[in-house]
Amino acid sequence: MTVYTIASQLPTMDLEEKKVLLRADLNVPIINGTIKHTHRLDAIKPTIDLILKKNGTIFLTTHLGRPKNHEPELSTKQLIPWFKKQGYQISFAPTIMDAKQLGNKAKVQIILLENLRFFVGENECDKLFAQQLASLGDIFVQDAFGALHRNNASIILVPKLFDKKNRTIGLLIQQELIHLNKLIKPNHPFVLMVGGAKIVSKLFFTLQLVETWDILLPCPAIVFTLLKTLGQQTGNSLLDPKAIPLSKKLLEQATLHNKKIILPIDYLVRSQNNSLNFTGQIKNNEMGISIGKQTVIKYKEKILEAKTVFYTGLMGFLDQPNSLEPIKELFQAMAQSNAYSVVGGGDSVAAVQQLAINGIDWLSTGGGATLAYISGNPLPGLQPFLT
Ligand code: 3PG
Repeated sequence: MTVYTIASQLPTMDLEEKKVLLRADLNVPIINGTIKHTHRLDAIKPTIDLILKKNGTIFLTTHLGRPKNHEPELSTKQLIPWFKKQGYQISFAPTIMDAKQLGNKAKVQIILLENLRFFVGENECDKLFAQQLASLGDIFVQDAFGALHRNNASIILVPKLFDKKNRTIGLLIQQELIHLNKLIKPNHPFVLMVGGAKIVSKLFFTLQLVETWDILLPCPAIVFTLLKTLGQQTGNSLLDPKAIPLSKKLLEQATLHNKKIILPIDYLVRSQNNSLNFTGQIKNNEMGISIGKQTVIKYKEKILEAKTVFYTGLMGFLDQPNSLEPIKELFQAMAQSNAYSVVGGGDSVAAVQQLAINGIDWLSTGGGATLAYISGNPLPGLQPFLT
C-alpha cells in the first residue's frame, strides 16, 4: 500500500523572472471545438495563478486524447479561448522551438505547447525529447495528476532533468494526495460505488480494494457482469464475458473478508423503441442503463450511514438528462451525508458539475490515476518528488 505525503514547494520557491515548465493534465472532452467539461482546467488555475503572481513565465504542457496522426481536433490550440476568457495572456506554440522563441520575446504570461502526444518522443519516453522539453524551463512543476500513472517522457524523465531544488509538484497534486489519502486509510463504514464501462479494470480495482471497503454498491454497467456471474437476467445490458473470472473472484473475496455487496433490485432500462422505463426485471430486448427508484432508496440509506464514500463510473448518459435522475439522487445523498465523499473519473465528475451538485468533498481530476492510487499502487510520476 503506497501512501504519498508530498508538499508542493511552489509557495516558497523564488520564481521571479523564471521560466517555469508546467506539466498539466488538460485532457478535457472537446466536441466540434467546444470544451464540454472544464473541471481539469479549473483545477489547474491555483497553480497557474501562484506562478504568475510570483512573476514566472509559464510554458504550459499537456496531452489531449490519444492522437494517431496530429488530428486537428486534438490540438491544444483549442484550449486558448478558454484561457483568454479567464483573462490570461496566452500564446500558442506548435513546436518546442516556437515556444523558446516566444519565451524570449516581450512579456507573455503563458506559452501553451502543442499536444505533447503529437511528439513521438512523449509516448516513447525518449531521452532526447525529454531534454528538449526540459530546456524550456528553469523550474519544473508537475501538476498532471491524471497522468501520473503513465510512462511518458514528461512524467517520468523530464522532472529528473531538473535539480531537486528546481522541481516540485503543483498545488493540484498536493490537494489530490491530501484528499485521496483519506480513501486509502478510510473511516469506516466505507461505501464504494462503482459503475460505468471499462468493466475489467473497474472490477480489478474493486478487488484490489476488497480489504478496504465495507459495502459495495455496484452500479450499471459493472453490475451486469456480476449478475451474469450469478446466473441472473441482464437482457441486452453491457457485459464483458472476459470479466467473469474476475467477477467470480470478487464475489468469493468479498465473502471471505466479510464484505457486503448490495445488488440493485430494480433498474432504469432503455427499451427497443428507445424509451426509458423503470423495471424490476430486465427483459431480453432491454438494456439496463441505471439503477431504479427502489434501489436508489436502498443505496441512499447506505450512503447516509457511511463515514467514507467513493463513487466512480458514470451510469446514464451526460447528453440525456432523464437518464441521470438516479445518479443525481446518489450524488445529492453524498453531498448531504456526514461521510467524507469523493467522486473520481472524468464522466462522473462531469455529471456532478452538470447536475450542479455542491457539497461533495472532493472531485478528483484523475481517472485511471485515481483508481491506481487509491487501490495501493505507486504512481511512477511521483517518484522524482520523493525526498
Ligand atoms: C485521463 O484522462 O485519465 C488522463 O488524462 C490520462 O489519459 P490517458 O488514459 O489517455 O493516458
